[in-house]
Amino acid sequence: MSVVSSIQSDVDLSSYNTFALAAKAKHFVELKHAKDIKELIAWAGAKQLPWMVIGGGSNLLLLEDFSGLVIINQMRGIEVIENADSYTIKAAAGEDWHQFVQWTISQGMPGLENLALIPGTVGASPVQNIGAYGVELADLCSEVEFYSLVTNSMQTLSKKQCEFAYRDSIFKAQLKDQVIISKVTFELSKSWVAKRDYGGLRLLAEDVSAQGVFDQVCKMRISKLPEPKVLGNAGSFFKNPLVSQDHLSRLLSRYPEMPNYPASKGQSKLAAGWLIDKLGLKGFSIGGAAVHQDQALVLVNKANAEAGDILTLCRHIRQQVWQSFAVLLQPEVRFIKHSGEIEPSAVLGKPDAAE
Ligand code: EPU
Repeated sequence: MSVVSSIQSDVDLSSYNTFALAAKAKHFVELKHAKDIKELIAWAGAKQLPWMVIGGGSNLLLLEDFSGLVIINQMRGIEVIENADSYTIKAAAGEDWHQFVQWTISQGMPGLENLALIPGTVGASPVQNIGAYGVELADLCSEVEFYSLVTNSMQTLSKKQCEFAYRDSIFKAQLKDQVIISKVTFELSKSWVAKRDYGGLRLLAEDVSAQGVFDQVCKMRISKLPEPKVLGNAGSFFKNPLVSQDHLSRLLSRYPEMPNYPASKGQSKLAAGWLIDKLGLKGFSIGGAAVHQDQALVLVNKANAEAGDILTLCRHIRQQVWQSFAVLLQPEVRFIKHSGEIEPSAVLGKPDAAE
């Protein structure tokens, strides 16, 4: 049976985005096999409809109903190749990220433990180069396989070609809207060493196991980050901002305790959560949207929020942070309008008095 016959109409997406926003997809299909991609894209193309792929829906802000075809990535499967000094693991894009991490640890293949409990799917992980507790995907990913809408064929990019950077990759830049990721390959070294130089992980013993790191990461995330099934959210709403050394010095003269981390090109990274928290905005709400009580970088759907509530709250936070610290926060979540993704700045505008 052709995959096209399983396309549904007017499907509610509230259970397909972790913010639990009520937006509808005009057309909707579950993708189980990479071979069906070509047919689905041709179907949307013939009707001149936009399309988008949703994995776990954990990094999306659905601003309104989507007028095209929503493809839910449900491709499954994990393949392991054992080499002399590493494991090569190929995971299908629709695998749940956390379950995949848990499985690798249980199989005695450590390396991904610091990235436990990040919501979403394997296929979404390279797009924004997910990261947590001193590790990012780029440290362990060796290849990404995808269907290219330019060549209409499957292609593979090496890690280098993926151009990974902080919460960024080629899939958000040149290849944006041109690929459907089908598989991600990881290279996990057998000479594993625990990465425990970040925050609460520093307290772990030197001989801690991968399972020990995994358990601690889960404990820390659960204590600060809300469970999307209980309280709708999309993880960190904003990126941690980069500032120049001059800017940092000016800020530190006023706030000596401000967390900051060295970044590339002589810049420093600030903790957006700290800036928002410093302004007393934890728990602050507008309509049904609120700043999370325990982690100010996370916005939550507290009570049947509409996308407009989240936008208004987001603008308010940007305005306050701009006025107090001369830092313009950029959303980390992806903004989706009726015909596809849009640059957040096109929706948010600039804070008053921002250049
Ligand atoms: N802080 C506060 N108040 C807050 C939040 C944070 O003072 O409300 C301070 C913390 O005490 C700490 C600093 O800000 O000194 C940084 O906070 P934290 O270690 O919690 O990490 P983060 O910078 O807020 C980043 C990632 C998270 C990831 C954590 C842990 C980004 C945008 N976010 O958050 O990723 O889990 O580090 O590594 O880089 C996500 O991307 O969705 C996500 C949750």
